[in-house]
Amino acid sequence: MAASTPTKGRVTAPAVAAHTSTDSPLVMVTAYDAPTARIADAAGVDMILVGDSVANVVLGYEDTLRVTTEDIAHHVGAVARTEPRALVVGDLPWLSYHVSTSETVHNAAKLVRAGAGAVKLEGGRKRLEAVQAILDAEIPVMGHLGLTPQSVHALGGFRVQGKDLDTARAIVDDAEALAAAGCFAVVLECVPDAVARLVTDTIAVPTIGIGAGRHCDGQVLVMHDLLGLEDRKPPKFVRRYADLANDAIAAVSHFADDVRNGRFPSSDETYHAADTVSESLNLYTGEAAEDTPSERAPAT
Ligand code: KIV
Repeated sequence: MAASTPTKGRVTAPAVAAHTSTDSPLVMVTAYDAPTARIADAAGVDMILVGDSVANVVLGYEDTLRVTTEDIAHHVGAVARTEPRALVVGDLPWLSYHVSTSETVHNAAKLVRAGAGAVKLEGGRKRLEAVQAILDAEIPVMGHLGLTPQSVHALGGFRVQGKDLDTARAIVDDAEALAAAGCFAVVLECVPDAVARLVTDTIAVPTIGIGAGRHCDGQVLVMHDLLGLEDRKPPKFVRRYADLANDAIAAVSHFADDVRNGRFPSSDETYHAADTVSESLNLYTGEAAEDTPSERAPAT
């Protein structure tokens, strides 16, 4: 974690906001449940994002538009109950901050009550009212610009954003507005590295890139992508650090093979009754004991 942020105790949104360009880059990964949250925290990441990507990564939906605040809160709860050192950021899903400021604040509060230390929402100047209302309720907000998957239909697909001067300028202006409003960090998704660099050099709070090149203050990846647990062809910005899907298939196939060939369970993996009880039971069923007493684990 950055030198200007506490190395002991929990990572906080103000500590992330205080990150400077001389600190080591911030690291964020997604996690949606307790085992992946424990993995992320044991690996020492700074932030765990309970992203709306849970929709396609875990719940089998086509896009992120299907999940609700209740869905995200359910997953935030699972992550937060592991009591990670990392800051837990809950993603506000589509339509949870678009209708009214009152609904927006109540939805953000649901994620905080489930255990999030901050929330993230997509969009720039268009969403300033929502950002302001959440901040007024004392909830830290992370922005998200560039490719904003909740706007997939409006954007006409999942495409790199900010490729021409006008759209690049709009992203910089949006980032400045979010930072000025009080966001503690801004995610930049799928934008050219020159755009990410300009945003990073322009705003005072850290940028966290995903498909935005190396000039951001930090990087985020979807946990299942980096672990190789996804079977889709990953986008070019994903680096796979493991091949867990194939490792898992091999392990489950091995188990199936052992069961089908009588190699599982072994005597050591079996509870045994005391010899006298086993003998009586064997007499009762008319079968001879198969195990010799020396093979047996103590009765439990
Ligand atoms: O939901 C998510 O996983 C995200 C990341 C891609 C930043 O928003």
